[in-house]
Amino acid sequence: MLKEITSSYEIKIPQPEMDPEDLSVIPPWRLRRQPGEDLSGADLENIDYVSQIVKKYESFIQPYENANAIVRVWLETLQKDFKEQYHHNPIHNIQSRIKSLSSIAEKLKRKGLEPSFDCARDHLTDIAGTRVICYYIQDVYTVAELLKRQENTILLRESDYIKEPKPNGYRTYHMILGVSLHQSGEYYPVEVQIRTLAMDFWASMEHQLVYKSELENKEELAKELKIYADTLQNMEHNMMRFYEEVNLPLKGDF
Ligand code: GTP
Ligand code: MG
Repeated sequence: MLKEITSSYEIKIPQPEMDPEDLSVIPPWRLRRQPGEDLSGADLENIDYVSQIVKKYESFIQPYENANAIVRVWLETLQKDFKEQYHHNPIHNIQSRIKSLSSIAEKLKRKGLEPSFDCARDHLTDIAGTRVICYYIQDVYTVAELLKRQENTILLRESDYIKEPKPNGYRTYHMILGVSLHQSGEYYPVEVQIRTLAMDFWASMEHQLVYKSELENKEELAKELKIYADTLQNMEHNMMRFYEEVNLPLKGDF
């Protein structure tokens, strides 16, 4: 039974002699017990192995957790300062996440990279991720600018999918910030995505729909989604005009 479940995910069954650096065997916790299923202790044999790899993952992600937390504190401080000093606060909400062990393994595999923590450290820049949801497009650039000016940080990469949206209609401002951690003196990458509420609505729905959709209706769905992206862009542009009619212009507001 255990074999059947694992073979559908094309992963190896962890064995005690396996190298705990080898991420191709994970995610073992997908080997969940189904109702009424008897695993006959097969998973128990691997408990040592699983706990070793989990320990390694936990220490591997620690600096990424710290880098993400630092970015979050910066953003929360900005949010607080804006609330106190200006009449418009650009940040609606902040979300942070750390890539799970199974996502790390899957991504390395997808990119044809060696399944190891060292390789993940060298090649993956989205292990720590922070998403900032703003009200208006100008707010996105305000937040990006202020983040870039933070001390102990370097800009590793920047992709402006607002100025140049992806062909499917995806719009968001992406940056990879290198955050310096005092203990190590090294920079750890944090993928920061900054988008408006409208962009977030579209991206969340698109992600869900495209992931769930059957192959046959994909083309029609993509066409429809592109129309929605344009409509939302129009809507948020008009809302911004309404805002600026009764308030100060958003640009140069701060
Ligand atoms: P990955 O290998 O997927 O990380 O891509 P990349 O490193 O080339 O970066 P890219 O900027 O294309 O995408 C990074 C992240 O942006 C993704 O993990 C998603 O969170 C988001 N993203 C990018 N494109 C899309 C899209 O078309 N739709 C949605 N919903 N999200 C997207
Ligand atoms: Mg990425």
